[in-house]
Amino acid sequence: MDVRVAILTVSDRSARGEREDASGPALAAAAAAYGWRVVRQAILPDDYDRLRLTLAEWADAGLADLILTTGGTGFAPRDQTPEATRAVVEKLAPGLMQAMMQASLQVTPHAMLSRAVAGVRRRTLIVNLPGSPRAARENLAVIAPAVPHAVQLLRNDPDAEAGHRRAAEG
Ligand code: MTE
Repeated sequence: MDVRVAILTVSDRSARGEREDASGPALAAAAAAYGWRVVRQAILPDDYDRLRLTLAEWADAGLADLILTTGGTGFAPRDQTPEATRAVVEKLAPGLMQAMMQASLQVTPHAMLSRAVAGVRRRTLIVNLPGSPRAARENLAVIAPAVPHAVQLLRNDPDAEAGHRRAAEG
């Protein structure tokens, strides 16, 4: 299935060019390895309005099935990716959020410091991932098996019925 992915790196320092963005490319490589197509990549500072507007613009343009953000989910004063995401999604996806949290807590107790959210705007699924390349990849790996079926459902694809089989059954 053709899954179109857009990746948004959220980092003041990377946006200013002070730190190379490692997480965006790491997610792009992971997405490609899952057989998905990366259609857009950008870096934004931790700016609530710019994040909100970019997420809404990308979702409303229908350019991607899945928007992955990386960074800005923690407790630092400038971290506001979850707030900007909540402001634009029409439906939350608590199952994705819980699955990522549950798996990440097995990796590190610091996982509980992520406030990442996931949700749907129109036909686009938006998922917050933490900022470090490793953490972003680990969290993406948790939801990856459910992404193709999620996209089928978002598209109202009549073939979605077949996707109700469990991922492990192939
Ligand atoms: N989740 C996984 N799977 N692996 C990790 O290493 N790091 C955590 C957490 N989630 C981590 C993780 C840490 S240290 C923080 S502070 C939060 O994600 C928030 O990260 P962010 O502020 O970069 O978004």
